Amino acid sequence: MAKAVMVQSTALGRSAGQLVIGNWKLHGSLIDNQRLFDALLCSPVLTRMAVLPAVCVPFPFLAQCQKKLQGSRLVYGAQDVSAEKSGAFTGEVAASMIAEFGAHYVIVGHSERRMYHGESDAKVLAKTLRVLDVGMTPIVCVGETLAERDCGDTGLVVSCQLNAVLDMLSPEQAARIVVAYEPVWAIGTGYAATSAQAQEVHAHLRGLLRAKGEAVAQVRVLYGGSMRSDNAAELFAMEDVDGGLIGGAALKSEDFLAICEAGLLF
Ligand code: 13P
Repeated sequence: MAKAVMVQSTALGRSAGQLVIGNWKLHGSLIDNQRLFDALLCSPVLTRMAVLPAVCVPFPFLAQCQKKLQGSRLVYGAQDVSAEKSGAFTGEVAASMIAEFGAHYVIVGHSERRMYHGESDAKVLAKTLRVLDVGMTPIVCVGETLAERDCGDTGLVVSCQLNAVLDMLSPEQAARIVVAYEPVWAIGTGYAATSAQAQEVHAHLRGLLRAKGEAVAQVRVLYGGSMRSDNAAELFAMEDVDGGLIGGAALKSEDFLAICEAGLLF
């Protein structure tokens, strides 16, 4: 297993630092990635142990990550995975294949997958299990739409999404996941949740995790949705916010580094 993977072992407690993960979505090219990696890797911010940086890239760039990032503090992962182990599933990518490239994280259940690809909670669970099976860390995404929030259903929605996974994992498996709270209305809109809104939902998620035991209570809960350099510190300051899942702002080195720097404060 790669050294970089060991650096971000989930055995590290929440107090080990903020986990700042870029979700590149459908962006990047070999040349642009190279420039971004060069800028990130030469920054003193990423040498500080109090921030745990990572990028989740489109599948074709995993090889580039392996070449460029393995052994560095910038660990990497994928944005999705097949719910199947192997077989006649054209176009799918198995967890074991992702792991072969030294990847550490796989995002599962992002709202864009749930929305545009009809991913059910059952599918998210199946994917989570595949990722755990090969020793990687699933980042399980939950979050409500604006309509659900307006109806007062936020707690219910995120509980259903998280418990669909948690209830089917052993405590040992559950302790190895990362959770990301990403309100759908905040993703790519420029309107992040306020720190109070985020903390309220994170505390609720923490309660669900705590119900599964002390080790599971230590699972990191990241915030995602229009996190930027100017709101990151306020969000990281919240008791139950353990890091961020960053979309747009992860594509520019100065923005991503500024968020990582904000993470150093907490
Ligand atoms: P933005 O930071 O672009 O709002 O995206 C958040 C997100 O979806 C991360 O997974």
